[in-house]
Amino acid sequence: MIIKSTIDRIMEATDIVEVIGEFVQLKKRGANYVGLSPFANERTPSFTVSPAKGIFKDFSSGKGGSAVTFLMELEKFSYPEALKWLAKKYGIEVEETVETVENKEEENRRESLMIVTAYAAKFFHESLLDTEEGQNIGLSYFKERGFSNDIIKKFELGYSPDQWEAFTGQAIKNGYQQQFLEESGLSVKRDNGTLYDRYRGRVMFPIHSFTGRVIAFGGRTLKSDKNVPKYVNSPESEIYHKSNVLYGLYFAKKAIREVDNCFLVEGYADVLSVFQAGIENVVASSGTSLTVEQIRLIGRFTKNITILYDGDAAGIKASLRGLDMILEEGLNVKVVLFPDGHDPDSYVRLVGTAGFKKHIEDNKKDFILYKTDLLLKDAGNDPIKKAEVIREIVESVAKIPDSIKASVFIKECSYLLKIDERALLSELNKMRMAKAKKDSQQQISRPQVPVDESLLEEPQERIEKDDFSQEKEIIRLLLLYGNRVIDWDGIANTYIGPFIIAELSDITFENETCKSFVETYRREVENGVLPDEQYFIHLPQKEIVDLTVTLIATKYTLSDNWYEMHKILVPDEQVNMRATILGAIFHLKKQKVGKILEGLRNELQKTAVEEDQEILLNQYMHMKKVEKTISDYLGSVILK
Ligand code: CTP
Ligand code: MN
Repeated sequence: MIIKSTIDRIMEATDIVEVIGEFVQLKKRGANYVGLSPFANERTPSFTVSPAKGIFKDFSSGKGGSAVTFLMELEKFSYPEALKWLAKKYGIEVEETVETVENKEEENRRESLMIVTAYAAKFFHESLLDTEEGQNIGLSYFKERGFSNDIIKKFELGYSPDQWEAFTGQAIKNGYQQQFLEESGLSVKRDNGTLYDRYRGRVMFPIHSFTGRVIAFGGRTLKSDKNVPKYVNSPESEIYHKSNVLYGLYFAKKAIREVDNCFLVEGYADVLSVFQAGIENVVASSGTSLTVEQIRLIGRFTKNITILYDGDAAGIKASLRGLDMILEEGLNVKVVLFPDGHDPDSYVRLVGTAGFKKHIEDNKKDFILYKTDLLLKDAGNDPIKKAEVIREIVESVAKIPDSIKASVFIKECSYLLKIDERALLSELNKMRMAKAKKDSQQQISRPQVPVDESLLEEPQERIEKDDFSQEKEIIRLLLLYGNRVIDWDGIANTYIGPFIIAELSDITFENETCKSFVETYRREVENGVLPDEQYFIHLPQKEIVDLTVTLIATKYTLSDNWYEMHKILVPDEQVNMRATILGAIFHLKKQKVGKILEGLRNELQKTAVEEDQEILLNQYMHMKKVEKTISDYLGSVILK
């Protein structure tokens, strides 16, 4: 864990305008800065940064928070990753606590592996560019394939000399430990315990983590000998989990976000060629079949994946299963095929950027429709096979979590399959039912999803009526006025924050974020601290930061003519502070009592046992009285 004093120093050094300015063009407007939202497509800027408060608020996507939150949202960093990014920018040394000895050791081991891998990337890159063997063999191969110097440098391509110990020997001479050379897979151990180079005579593709560190390699042979494996890849290690990594993501993520789409290809060469053609939103699964983790990784940047396949049919069929997985994750999948014998790499070099883009536009097909087409062709006129096709297609559609989207596909497939829409729908419902049953067996508490044929008209999502506005109002008041002193007749020398907290000690907040906000507030108060908005803005819990910013950064409070907009609202609320605070507290209490009453009414209806009824009735009468007291209080004493 990063220690508190380091976090404080980072927060102090951080200039939110400077940080956000690296990603968004900001213009000064009054006390604030505005720009186009990086999270939504917009033409009029609604993205506001307030240097005074140290926050941003994006009115089109609703996102908001501190510089740290911004980096977490945009770069998909974790909390410590965002802090480290800032520390690096402002030249602050990061101190971390040693939680346990094992943790520290593990962290050290990972770091050592990263360091040796980074050293290797540099070694291979330099031997490609600066040695005679590298230039004659490796570099000339890359040039022949059409890779530019820029791409070679950007992706840090390399060459591993065709000798047994060129790399290993150099690494050991430079003090790198054998243990890490072996664990990273860069070197292989002989029976006699000495090490030799794994990638002899291969061109090297370093694989970057999505924060840009080299964590593994793919080494391609230059021989056409069938007995030599074409690629040798790094083994799994503490820093490299193949199923969590996508080749090229580090370089592609910015473009993926901008274009709101990710091209998925198969190989290293495909990524490089397509990227070089100026189409930068491209990543590869590197030969392995796609994993859920990889899909989620893409899902952090866009919900749209376009898969670029080479034309070979066997490969396509094998991957159909993987694509269902993408649907299940709620992403939209399109598929593009290339003419026989071409992969994205060869095709983009053949037709150029414009031709490549046009091919994609003209040929992209929604995955389900594509699958329908493909299976139908296979089935021909065989009715049994056709029934199987229908089942398979509906199975795919059933994986789509968004039921409106699913029903649109059902419509289109019914057309393609020449089958009545209702028949498909009933098949879909059967599958959903089976799935719901399976889920509820796995997780008993989850209620069964009701399914019926009205699916087409009725979206299945439950609409949350309760927007917790009363609970949020309390949070807003805590943030705005928590550290003001009460000066009402009867109550004095008390701060508003602790007063509210004490008044609500018997109330359970239902909204999870409000609840943890209030718990945090209470804890700090008990520690003798009055937390302010800055305290909440800089908490690691994103939901709390979000809520805080939303509540303190309304369009009005961030607007220049702050007083103009608030002429009416603010003085009112502040002049009668007592009414504002007590009103909020008792409105919330009244709402809770209302809910208890509703619960009691329900129970009363359900019980037939007389004694039980009597107990419930007593409780009911009691709560009714409480409700009346609150209403009276609210009505006569506080608000008209
Ligand atoms: N791959 C692998 N091991 C192999 C073959 C392939 O790991 N023996 C992975 C590599 O990540 C490769 C991808 O699968 O990039 C796609 O394979 P292929 O199309 O054969 O490789 P390309 O990168 O396209 O290589 P090239 O165009 O140089 O033949
Ligand atoms: Mn290829």
